[in-house]
Amino acid sequence: MSWRGRAAMVVLLMLLGACQVQNYQSAFGDAGVEDRQFLFLFGIFLVICTAMYVLVIAFLIAGILRRRRAGDANVVETGRHHDSHPLMRTGLIVWSALVGIGLFALAVASFFTDRSMANAAAHEKLSVTVTGNQWWWDVQYNSSDPSKSLRTANELHVPVGVPTRIILRSNDVIHSFWVPSLTGKQDLIPGRETDVTIVPRRVGIFRGQCAEFCGTQHAHMAFVVNVDSYRDFLKWWQHQLQSAPAPTTPIARAGYNYVTQRQCSMCHSIAGTPAGGRVGPDLTHLASRRTIAAGTLPMSAGNLYGWVADPQSIKPGTKMPTMNLEPQELHAVVAYLETLK
Ligand code: CUA
Repeated sequence: MSWRGRAAMVVLLMLLGACQVQNYQSAFGDAGVEDRQFLFLFGIFLVICTAMYVLVIAFLIAGILRRRRAGDANVVETGRHHDSHPLMRTGLIVWSALVGIGLFALAVASFFTDRSMANAAAHEKLSVTVTGNQWWWDVQYNSSDPSKSLRTANELHVPVGVPTRIILRSNDVIHSFWVPSLTGKQDLIPGRETDVTIVPRRVGIFRGQCAEFCGTQHAHMAFVVNVDSYRDFLKWWQHQLQSAPAPTTPIARAGYNYVTQRQCSMCHSIAGTPAGGRVGPDLTHLASRRTIAAGTLPMSAGNLYGWVADPQSIKPGTKMPTMNLEPQELHAVVAYLETLK
């Protein structure tokens, strides 16, 4: 391949890469109604502010050139002379009017964006409570029918086109819920309830990230939002409502015994088993999630081994202790966790 061909290939790959990143976690992802409104508002601000900036710089350059020419001609002009010049006066009036109109247009655009977002929030069809913890996200799907409400962690599923209200709480310090592809940031404040409504525009997988420094593992406090078709969402919901499947192999049974009867069950709950701790993430369908430890590692058997064996080396300071499991115990625990689909 010629160097030109290679260069074209590199540019193409970079563009493709940029598109991927843009879809996954980007304020330009344009995957939610709110994000689209933000982008529109951003566009208006950009155009008006750029126009003003260009005008200011153009006048500045014109002024410098004029001064220089005046200097060349050895003409001394006074400020008074400038101000009283009729053209100057008209210019000043036009400029003041432009600034006023520009600011007014920005205020109006902000107002209408804010109104339409509040309007979307008023038509919620689904309610989810997300509670921030150092450093993971507790997720509770609310329903007036208790048999339909479910608890999970670090991963959300929402149906496309449906306004979903996310109620935000915190158990310790201030965190911030941020899925740039879908909507703007909203803080989770201890002792106070905040909320954000998202209306996803297209199916996809989007990364969210805690956006408020909340301790040493702030950067490892991420989550995944899966925007599903309505049918897929209902399927997911029905599946998550089910209790954890019973272990079928001897090694998984040994893991079940360890997890539900020893330390793990003091912090984690697994529906349908004696494990009922509320301090750590719910593990009922752990293996169906995309990540481990709030977006720190992709879900895989190898990463489960690493995480369970020594969480403190992967996420120092995490509340999950390193338990020094015997190799047999570790094999069993991971074998059981992998069944929690
Ligand atoms: Cu939670 Cu940063």
